[in-house]
Amino acid sequence: MEFKFTPENIERINKEIQKYPEKKAAVMAALYIAQEQNGFISTDVMKEIATLLDITAEDVLGVVTFYTMYHQKQMGKFHIQVCTNVSCMLRGGYDILKQIKDKIGIDDMGVTDDGLFSIEEVECMGSCGTAPMIAVNEDYYENLTKEKVEELLKSLSQTHS
Ligand code: FES
Repeated sequence: MEFKFTPENIERINKEIQKYPEKKAAVMAALYIAQEQNGFISTDVMKEIATLLDITAEDVLGVVTFYTMYHQKQMGKFHIQVCTNVSCMLRGGYDILKQIKDKIGIDDMGVTDDGLFSIEEVECMGSCGTAPMIAVNEDYYENLTKEKVEELLKSLSQTHS
């Protein structure tokens, strides 16, 4: 499906472009804004960004595939990222990952049928001192226990209903 940035987002991207000597340096910011608008980075999104920044769609794809925060398919309304890097792993990160997978019934990078949840196992999110932790969209939840995770999933489901 064809993708066009909203006029407001074009303005945001233009502001980013002005920060750098070369347009292409704004690619990460443009991808961030695109994901916010579209939910994920489709082929058409990449083409549009390439046109705006005078680079090729392959250049954009290279960035999309390098960084895990960009998704090439629609993720859930609540995208849950579970850190299983060293600090989190030592403090039960894998137990939390399993707990969430079992509870919502999907595997890594899966999306629930109702589109509410998706899950992704990720590397360190820089919050090792408060391990184990997860992120739901942009929000961090730290010093987690099984009970806290249970409570969080319940409240996210309720927010939606
Ligand atoms: S190891 Fe999990 S946030 Fe750093």
